[in-house]
Amino acid sequence: MRELSEINSDLDLCDEKILDLLKQRLGYVEEITDSKKALDLPILQPEQDKERMKKLILAIGDHPYGEELQAMVGQIESAGKRVESRNLFDFNIALMGFMGAGKSTVSRYLKQKLAMDEVDVDSVIVQDQNMPIKDIFAQFGEDYFRDCESKAIIKLQSRRQTIISCGGGAVVREENVANLKKTSRIVLLTASPETVLERVKGSDERPILNGNMNVEFIKELMEKRAELYRKAADVIIETDHKRVEQICEELLRALVKLER
Ligand code: S3P
Repeated sequence: MRELSEINSDLDLCDEKILDLLKQRLGYVEEITDSKKALDLPILQPEQDKERMKKLILAIGDHPYGEELQAMVGQIESAGKRVESRNLFDFNIALMGFMGAGKSTVSRYLKQKLAMDEVDVDSVIVQDQNMPIKDIFAQFGEDYFRDCESKAIIKLQSRRQTIISCGGGAVVREENVANLKKTSRIVLLTASPETVLERVKGSDERPILNGNMNVEFIKELMEKRAELYRKAADVIIETDHKRVEQICEELLRALVKLER
């Protein structure tokens, strides 16, 4: 049996090699991101990611520590994505748009693809108030809810590399837009009233729409807010009849272009 000190020094050597390789890997990630930016190539390459993962899982095979190895590979992949997103843009992404415009879906997808942090302003309010949104509206009214919303947005100012998903009405207060702009680029997601209705009709969680679940009401409120949305937006992405992958790809390329 080998001396413990000898094995330990082999282990140290192994760590050094791993660290060197990890640094090298992050360098490649940086290089890939730079060339995607320079050549205006697709940012998200889900097929390539899937292929790489498949190859790695195959290489792990039926190793007795397969589960641990897969977890490590996942961590490496995720760190690479974080480096990629940091290299793409150094700001938060604030998602705005009418109820049902797809903010939560887009946020979830971006979080997964870029390993960014994700926060939903409505969820922050629910947590702060310890009460669902519709109860806040029912008990204290919309003005009170808007105050909570503004406070939650201020609270989020310390976040970095975060996707901030805003409630559809956050745009009605100018201060919210100004506060978001301090650390974020604002992405406006749009959808037609018909699409919005399709997406929200199954839920009773939006007090503003309860009792108003029809295209006419949605259209009217959307038009009232349209100018505010447009003025706030750094980037506008239409979501009608598009898959989340396409929306996110458009959004990221538009954000990268902003930085040029
Ligand atoms: C609202 C939108 C909701 C929520 C609240 C008010 C609005 O968020 O903040 O019900 O005034 O448009 P979502 O846009 O995430 O549904």
